[in-house]
Amino acid sequence: TTCIGVLTAGGDSPGLNAAIRAIGKNGAGRGMHIIGFRDGFRGLMENRTVALEGDILSGILTQGGTILGTSRDKPHKMPMGGQLQDMTGVMLHNYQRHNLEALICIGGGGTQKNAFRLSRLGMNIITLPKTIDNDVAATDITFGFDTALSVATSAIDRLHSTAHSHHRIIVVEIMGHNTGWLGLGAGLAGGADVILIPEIPYDVNTVAQAVRRRQHHGKNFSIVASSEGALSIDDAARLARLRAARDAARAAKDAERKKAAEAALADFAREHEAHSIKLSRELETLTGLESRVTILGYLQRGGTPSAADRILATRLGTACVEAVAAGQYGKMVAVAGEGTKLVELADVVGRLKYVPKDHPWVRAALQTGVSLGNPDF
Ligand code: F6P
Repeated sequence: TTCIGVLTAGGDSPGLNAAIRAIGKNGAGRGMHIIGFRDGFRGLMENRTVALEGDILSGILTQGGTILGTSRDKPHKMPMGGQLQDMTGVMLHNYQRHNLEALICIGGGGTQKNAFRLSRLGMNIITLPKTIDNDVAATDITFGFDTALSVATSAIDRLHSTAHSHHRIIVVEIMGHNTGWLGLGAGLAGGADVILIPEIPYDVNTVAQAVRRRQHHGKNFSIVASSEGALSIDDAARLARLRAARDAARAAKDAERKKAAEAALADFAREHEAHSIKLSRELETLTGLESRVTILGYLQRGGTPSAADRILATRLGTACVEAVAAGQYGKMVAVAGEGTKLVELADVVGRLKYVPKDHPWVRAALQTGVSLGNPDF
């Protein structure tokens, strides 16, 4: 019998179990044997498996998280005894030991990259795009996004009560990694007054102006939906310089310079973790209103998937088993309109899907009076 492996990697995302279930059921229907590896690529390395058949697939459609467990471990940089080691050889060995016909890797941008690495090693790989960030290239959408969008939206709905009653600004920090899909979507749906996304750097004075304009109209509260990756114009320029320095060091194959550049980027990221708090304080000073911060964090990733995510994950899960049956490898099952299509992993990796500055959501926000915090918009 054909044996297929499955793993889930990267941040947990609603719909993972729906996808696992769909793979298990479709596979069983075709007489395939499906095994899961636990905790992402780590389980493949440590050969920790579970048979994905029978009872284990029951009752999981509606459950958040992943029954397989997940991790952010990278196959070529596994933390082992205080060091990072390339363990791809061990993974290939385990792949062969199980006589796998294919390995299905479910994850976001990082997982696509890691899976591509394994496919170049000779494994038959098929991937699925999942992340609440919706930032995977070459697919219309990723599963997990719709659920996170609803959670973040209802959080903004609730924050309105306090903002309104206490006459406060509330800066609500929304996930999304380096893209603004979740922040923009939730901000729009939740009626935020200001929406800050990484793709459109902000000027705090422009944000304050928007809040003050509302004050002039008798509205002495404001909701600022701020993506976790949102950057001030100055910070965006600084980050671009730091990235350019790292890329130059990489291109020059200068290990020492690369290490220093990476350390500078890590410092920047650490400092940026407090950006919503900094923004809130600056807004207090500039507007005279009280301001508070709410970081939604992992609440956005947890819990039961929305109907749309259950359907999407089930479609993608079944489609990837179809791809295996057709012997299509080195590909990601992408969402294209009403259907799915197979795209080359090479066309997915190393690319992020950013919010285009003229995206319909951006235009809709601007045309309903939302400030994007940038003087040019
Ligand atoms: O990719 C999903 C995500 O939740 C991002 O929105 C966020 O930047 C990141 O994961 C957080 O990662 P971790 O789970 O490692 O804290």
